[in-house]
Amino acid sequence: MNANLLAKKLLPWYREVKRPLPWRVNRDPYRIWVSEVMLQQTTVTAVIPYFEKFIQKFPGVNALANAREDEVMEYWAGLGYYSRARSLHASAKKISSLGDFPKSHVELLELPGFGPYTARSVASLAFGERVGVVDGNVIRVLCRVLDLDLEWWKTKDRNYLQSAADRLAQAIDEEGVSVDPSDINQGLMELGATVCTVQSPTCLLCPWLKNCRARKNDTILQRPRSKPRRESEIWAWQPEIYLRRDRKILLIENNYAPFLRGHLIWPGKAVRLKKKPKHFHYKGGVTHHEIYVTVTRAPVKSTERPDQLAALTKDLKPQWVSQSEMKTKVPSSLIRKAIEVLDLDENAST
Ligand code: ADE
Repeated sequence: MNANLLAKKLLPWYREVKRPLPWRVNRDPYRIWVSEVMLQQTTVTAVIPYFEKFIQKFPGVNALANAREDEVMEYWAGLGYYSRARSLHASAKKISSLGDFPKSHVELLELPGFGPYTARSVASLAFGERVGVVDGNVIRVLCRVLDLDLEWWKTKDRNYLQSAADRLAQAIDEEGVSVDPSDINQGLMELGATVCTVQSPTCLLCPWLKNCRARKNDTILQRPRSKPRRESEIWAWQPEIYLRRDRKILLIENNYAPFLRGHLIWPGKAVRLKKKPKHFHYKGGVTHHEIYVTVTRAPVKSTERPDQLAALTKDLKPQWVSQSEMKTKVPSSLIRKAIEVLDLDENAST
């Protein structure tokens, strides 16, 4: 791989076409860090409104460090993976007590919630450390331009991609000056997100058109190799809807079902089955889980028994949510649909 040549072509392309995203307005490590954690769970378009609101509420690392955990969770609600928000909060406290952000990926790795991806992205995007980042977009772009038939989900092959990404981030220009690793890394991500897409890459717009080995070998759609699918599992999910007299419904953090773990979910039970059940309200799918849903309504009286509810929601960050807040707090329609199958306008207590 000629890293210097690839960098030379990528940089002007990225500088011209890059999307004006709210975490690209400066090199504030706090904003970059928050955006990278949010972007691990969903798309750029979905993240933007959450990012704006989060930053308005917690404009810097000290504001986040001093916030109460329930406030942080409130601003995270809808993004899922609440453990990530808790790690973000814990790391903000550490950084605040250190007085400043650690500036290398090795030091950042010591903080809660910082894995190889987040540590390298913050170190390179905010502090200019010359390390590459490897996410799904970068894997696709590199496997195509270098025509690599790798098992990228395995450590050895992942390390190979990491060193290719590192070499790009360490490229030098014609005057022998180091390139900006932030622009290289974001350029790779941007290429994957906007041009070198999974299904229909627009190769004619690619700065690497003439360098792409997969294009030359006609293997673009075979790169990257697909990760072998896990065998599908059948699950019966029995959510219980606790509706209070003020019409708010109880959500807890999912600690009992293997699908949508960490998301806000109705209390209930999930049981693995050998074959599909005959009776259910509706079915849905999440990754390799085939889910058959049967909804029950908890007796109204039980919503007013604090002792019983306390046992049910112990450590699970219970939230009573109104129907109008539902769409933002519970983006998964598999979960939301459970209240649609019940007639919640009726006052009946069962
Ligand atoms: N995905 C992950 N990080 C990103 C970034 N900094 N910009 C755009 N998309 C991204």
